[in-house]
Amino acid sequence: MWKCIAGTIIVGSVAYTLIKYFAGGVCHCTTRLDGLVIVITGASSGIGKALALELAQRGATLVLACRDVEKGLNAKTYILSQLKNKNIKIFVKHLDLCNISSIVKFSDTLNNEFSEIYGLVNNAGVFYHPQGLTKDGYEITLQTNYLGHFILTHHLLNLLKKSVHARIINLSSEAHRNVNIYDLKAVTKCQNEFRSHFVAYGVSKLALVLFTKELSKKLSNTNVIVNSANPGNVETKIFRNFPPLSNPWLYALQWPIRCLVVKSPKQGAQTVLHCLLTSNRSTGQYYSDCKLVLPSPIAANDKIAKEYYELTLEILSDWFTTESEC
Ligand SMILES: NC(=O)c1ccc[n+]([C@@H]2O[C@H](COP(=O)([O-])OP(=O)(O)OC[C@H]3O[C@@H](n4cnc5c(N)ncnc54)[C@H](OP(=O)(O)O)[C@@H]3O)[C@@H](O)[C@H]2O)c1
Repeated sequence: MWKCIAGTIIVGSVAYTLIKYFAGGVCHCTTRLDGLVIVITGASSGIGKALALELAQRGATLVLACRDVEKGLNAKTYILSQLKNKNIKIFVKHLDLCNISSIVKFSDTLNNEFSEIYGLVNNAGVFYHPQGLTKDGYEITLQTNYLGHFILTHHLLNLLKKSVHARIINLSSEAHRNVNIYDLKAVTKCQNEFRSHFVAYGVSKLALVLFTKELSKKLSNTNVIVNSANPGNVETKIFRNFPPLSNPWLYALQWPIRCLVVKSPKQGAQTVLHCLLTSNRSTGQYYSDCKLVLPSPIAANDKIAKEYYELTLEILSDWFTTESEC
């Protein structure tokens, strides 16, 4: 009997410690965002949706930028149902990052409808997407996660500069550490020989950290700060194409462990929330678990960041004029 009780206590304590440990950092900032406009890409599910709820609870006006407007409207209904203050403004707008015309149209709408933006959260993303090209001719994962956000950010910079303080957060991942310079160039230039779509994801996330670094320099004399954030390992739909998790049997086998070590979307949103709310105005940095962390040596390299920014401008030259730069 006593052995049984002691065993239950030990197993319970170990499980509790693991859950606490893997839940990661919590944002304790109490800052209010009443009336400040924050744009979140990919806010129809996962981390983006959870973040939207956290921000709405702090009074922000939200623009949910979604490729599926119906899903975006469902997210809006859910968020409003959770709020005490039903007067929070939430706008749902169409944005498909795999279609540059859609990005331009979305940005034009915002430029016409808003006088300033406080926050841009470049959150939308795909993982382990089958290889292929968008109709704009770029690798799908790279355009969704990086190139689309690169263009979007530049098209919204004027609105961000009009806010007294403004913040851009790029959702990255620890996967940025798993790729090298060769992969970076091969995927960006759409060369066939890049290793896999897993590599394409790592490259897109490395590209976002490099972009964060270079953009922060270009914006150094402005009111806009830019940081990248790693949400951690979070239970969301992003794994829908990843065989070990999309297969229901394999998923069921891993489920007990995942319950202990994988974050909920609300927990995954904490580092992004921290980047938006903290009084620390450092810029060009990489955050993880609500703390500043060093990114990989490639991502921390100023020369590579500058060269990669220029390479991006070069490959996007059909869509991007020098006037669009900062
Ligand atoms: N989950 C993790 O463990 C993890 C770890 C590290 C980093 N991240 C990053 O966190 C971010 C959010 O991911 P998540 O886990 O919350 O995944 P998620 O639930 O799948 O959310 C991704 C969002 O991006 C949207 N999206 C995909 N392609 C798009 C496109 N072409 N145009 C516009 N929106 C598009 C999706 O729209 P639909 O709803 O229409 O599909 C969805 O709303 C991603 O950047 C991801 O790389 C996640």
